[in-house]
Amino acid sequence: MTSLSAATLFKKLPAGDFRSRCQALCDFLRAMNPAYDWIGLYWVDGADLVLGPWTGDQPTEHVRIPISQGICGAAVREAQTIIVDDVQSDPRYLACFTQTRSEIVVPIFADGLIVGEIDIDGKNIGEFDQSDRKFLEELAVLIGREWPGRW
Ligand code: SME
Repeated sequence: MTSLSAATLFKKLPAGDFRSRCQALCDFLRAMNPAYDWIGLYWVDGADLVLGPWTGDQPTEHVRIPISQGICGAAVREAQTIIVDDVQSDPRYLACFTQTRSEIVVPIFADGLIVGEIDIDGKNIGEFDQSDRKFLEELAVLIGREWPGRW
């Protein structure tokens, strides 16, 4: 649950290029909602997702994920948001951090195509709900509108 609207948060991002705005977005999100324990943006690159900006205590080993794998890949294949309440009971889950218990992945569309996704890990089971989905999907629309065509 976040207190700011997606539009208000987006307006707070510093002017600049897409990369720096996306990094600032990750940093803002984590600062405003400590339940968002690790936040990353992945971009579609052929048959893979490649990690762009991220914010968290540790880097992930999953800097390139085949779209055929993971919860990240499933969100692209299904072209929809995926909320996993308990990652340990989801066979699709690619483990990154020992403290992660739940995950939400929200596709980013530009001109009707999926160009990337927002991936957020939580430390508690059932961390993410429909309010997170609504908020992050609104944010994904705003990111998609600024998509420069390639990362
Ligand atoms: N857990 C993801 C991989 C990315 S890490 O969470 C940063 C997945 O299952 O696709």
